[in-house]
Amino acid sequence: MKLHLALSTALVLASPTIAFAKTPAKAPAKKADVKPNGSVIASGHALATDAGQEIIRKGGNAFDAAIAVSSTLSVVEPISSGIGGGGFFLLHDAKTRKDIFLDARETSPESATPEAYLDKDGNLDRDRAENGPWSAGIPGLPAALVYLAEKYGRLPLSVSLAPSIRIAKEGFPLYPRMINGYNERKAVMDRYPASKALMHQSGRDPQVGDIFKQPDLARTIELIAAKGYDGFYKGETANKLLKAVSDEGGKWTPQELGTYKVKLREPLRFDYKNWKVATAPPPSSGGIAMQQMLQIIGGGWDLNKQSKVEQVHLLTEAMRRAYRDRTIYLGDPDFVKVPLARLGSKEYAAGLRATIHPQKATPSDLFIGQPAPLEDDETTHFSIIDQEGNRVAATQTVNLLYGSGMVAPGTGVLLNNEMDDFALKPGTPNAFGVMGFEANAPKPGKRMLSSMTPTFIENDTDVAAIGAPGGSRIITEVLFGIIGYDQGMNSQQVAAKPRFHHQWMPDTIYAETDALDPATIAALEKMGHKVTVSKPWGNLQTVRYNKRTGALDGGTDPRNPVGKADVQAPVKQAAKAKAKAR
Ligand code: GLY
Repeated sequence: MKLHLALSTALVLASPTIAFAKTPAKAPAKKADVKPNGSVIASGHALATDAGQEIIRKGGNAFDAAIAVSSTLSVVEPISSGIGGGGFFLLHDAKTRKDIFLDARETSPESATPEAYLDKDGNLDRDRAENGPWSAGIPGLPAALVYLAEKYGRLPLSVSLAPSIRIAKEGFPLYPRMINGYNERKAVMDRYPASKALMHQSGRDPQVGDIFKQPDLARTIELIAAKGYDGFYKGETANKLLKAVSDEGGKWTPQELGTYKVKLREPLRFDYKNWKVATAPPPSSGGIAMQQMLQIIGGGWDLNKQSKVEQVHLLTEAMRRAYRDRTIYLGDPDFVKVPLARLGSKEYAAGLRATIHPQKATPSDLFIGQPAPLEDDETTHFSIIDQEGNRVAATQTVNLLYGSGMVAPGTGVLLNNEMDDFALKPGTPNAFGVMGFEANAPKPGKRMLSSMTPTFIENDTDVAAIGAPGGSRIITEVLFGIIGYDQGMNSQQVAAKPRFHHQWMPDTIYAETDALDPATIAALEKMGHKVTVSKPWGNLQTVRYNKRTGALDGGTDPRNPVGKADVQAPVKQAAKAKAKAR
């Protein structure tokens, strides 16, 4: 029978009648995507979301809105990000159908040799690594805003930066997260006169509800609006930044500040089930770690068909393996060869999958580690889709709470403390408890490894933009975002989805209070897992559009009460035409 079939197939293939087959049967025409029914923005602060929608109403596109949201977050969330820091912007240009990854990560100043961060006993000087001028990299965010406006925006910076300038001048009410963060960083911030003055503008310690004004920051953003790149990296602001760093004992050169450039990188792409994922390449560790985790899982199991205990066990084992590789291999691809092809290959994932025991935890204790503190306030993310189908997923940061704690006098610019994301002393864990080695050692101009993971996912019906803050937990937050959409959740459910996290070292599953019930925890412990129940973390902001109906929805993390996801109806053509005429 088999032979008969094979023969008949061969005969059919050889038959002259097959000539008709030279014109292959037409594949059913793929339905064209409909345009989104307006615009959707989700961000960590309502004022930033509103600023983005204000700019879309003025005729801007998603990229103009991104400038408004990003700069407004710099003003209203100095605890998390700012123009003294950096970020990653994943863009989708609807016209060319291209994804672009804009790397605006800070760079290492020349002065930041590994020796500069050791104390007299040769130990990592934590104070230098986390506080003041030595902890700060050369900022990247202002260059990203200018690049976005020049290459992708439709409006001038004077328009897209106007909301942030206005809010910096008029002020906004302080909210508990800013006060709690200040209380944690007070000892450091009060060391620096400009930081102390800013935080004590009411003549006492700041309190919830105080109106927080930043006139110096307004002026600095105005200079960017008026002069673009040179408004920050050269002239008045640059001189003040250089003087501030030098006055506090650090060293930046005018040359390294004045030549900072954003980098365009190819997004990292992979498939998970029926989803196409575009995400952050190195110097983010997020994309490749997520690819590893999802390929380990996707190649072996359908999570939707596993019991709760199996899901947590398998995801934990995938996390453990991906975070181990993050520690060893990853760094700035312009300086080190990152074995992306191997780490991201299906074969490598299969090898890792084969080491997972279905009923037993794998111990992590190949290397020493130290407990990771719970970090949930640093860094911020926003997601945008506009009515043309342009998309932005952007994550930006000053690293830890209020970055370095140091405001450069006369600028309102709070400097980042991103240098701590380098392996300043290889083999010693950073503030997130994550270790690194030579691949992530500082070098002049090098970009420190990041966990920021702005991501797009797309299947036949849906497109979503996702991202989150949370230090090393960013990657698993976004992972749960993808899994949530795959489980059929809407954007708000995705943002609210309970989380757990394992990062190889320390060898424990951190679980949010309501993520795992007692029976699941008991079953996991029986398998050899340690479980640490923790207060909730993260601040995921996600938006989605249905390509068949145009419907939009947004999700803002309920763990952050000041965030906002907002859907608006399409802007009328008249407003757009006016914008083009500028
Ligand atoms: N500073 C946090 C990160 O980039 O991962």
